[in-house]
Amino acid sequence: MKLSAEQRDAMLAAAMLVRSQAHAPYSRFRVGAAVLSSSGRVFLGCNVENLSYGLSCCAERNAIAAAVAGGMQPGGLAAVVVVGDTPEPISPCGACRQVIAEFAAADCSITGANLAGQTRSWTIDGLLPDRFKAEL
Ligand code: THU
Repeated sequence: MKLSAEQRDAMLAAAMLVRSQAHAPYSRFRVGAAVLSSSGRVFLGCNVENLSYGLSCCAERNAIAAAVAGGMQPGGLAAVVVVGDTPEPISPCGACRQVIAEFAAADCSITGANLAGQTRSWTIDGLLPDRFKAEL
């Protein structure tokens, strides 16, 4: 859904706060994410890195995992807000795009922000056109 300015600012503030919990001793790049489910609940995630680098998990996927644990179903992801210390508003990595797509509502908005408070929003089709789909 398209977030109001107030909703976006509240989710951005929550994402900024949870970003401070990131476990990022290897990259030192902290990321925070807030996701809104269609039930109206907000779930948070930060990136959690590992000494075995490939095991690291992004903030967006951790927030989605929290939402799934809270009962979110495929199609129930109304909005994503992610924040990182980037010159331009951060945009989700490719792996996170595919995971967002798995849960995104048709009108899901994905908003990236930087620490200066600049934001940019996309649709999942804009971020990941012609993505993998199958009926399994
Ligand atoms: N990272 C995220 O959490 N989200 C993104 O969209 C991009 C990258 C994390 C992964 C890793 O812990 C660190 O940022 C540097 O890539």
